[in-house]
Amino acid sequence: MRGFFITGTDTGVGKTWVAAAMLHALVRKGLKTVGMKPVASGSVPTPEGLRNDDALQLQAAANLPRPYALVNPYTFAPPIAPHLAAAEAGATIALPRILESFRQLCAGADAVIVEGVGGWQVPLGESWGVPELAQALGLPVILVVGLRLGCLNHALLSARAIRADGLMLAGWIANSLDPDFERRSENLATLQRGLNAPLLADVPWRPGCTPEELAGRFNSGKIAGLLDAG
Ligand SMILES: Nc1ncnc2c1ncn2[C@@H]1O[C@H](COP(=O)(O)OP(=O)(O)O)[C@@H](O)[C@H]1O
Ligand SMILES: [Mg+2]
Repeated sequence: MRGFFITGTDTGVGKTWVAAAMLHALVRKGLKTVGMKPVASGSVPTPEGLRNDDALQLQAAANLPRPYALVNPYTFAPPIAPHLAAAEAGATIALPRILESFRQLCAGADAVIVEGVGGWQVPLGESWGVPELAQALGLPVILVVGLRLGCLNHALLSARAIRADGLMLAGWIANSLDPDFERRSENLATLQRGLNAPLLADVPWRPGCTPEELAGRFNSGKIAGLLDAG
């Protein structure tokens, strides 16, 4: 399946924002898309069951309608580390179930965007985590770098770990989290040298901007081209 696995330098750095915008950008290229959030913690009860906002945003940004249970097979109420949320719910996160949901979700789609959970090294069970999930899905990785003080360390460590785990870092996205971030362009230049992967978008701080508007900042031709390369 063609697509990307979206990870980030941390939680709250713009993964969902970027993933939803990428779905819109791919839809503009005429592709049939699906979005997935395999594991989510921080979900609210509804008459239909627990719902997570990230998963709802990805479901809405894609253009193929898919049941919520396929978009987000594991959803937990408390906004805590997912393996702890699973343990509290008396559940175990099982990779085969995620892969089966992925298979059904992707049937008939041209491209999938999968959002990870937290950063790269997040545990999902006793002996596995986000790296094993990305490996099993077989998708190239896009790293969302939340631009703020400390991001150089987080970004360079993440890129090193992604590659050490045998995955392809297809590109990265610079996402502004702090309008007062000092030496922005110098930091960006340092990241461009150090990450050694294409910068796919440089996103300014835009509170209230919708994923549709954000999609305009993405070079959808370049992203669609990367899909073919992956
Ligand atoms: N460039 C930006 N400008 C303004 N708000 C942003 C930007 N990037 C992210 N945000 C906001 O920050 C919050 C966290 O982003 P989100 O995509 O949910 O992060 P993650 O998925 O990595 O946890 C959201 O409310 C989002 O709208
Ligand atoms: Mg998110």
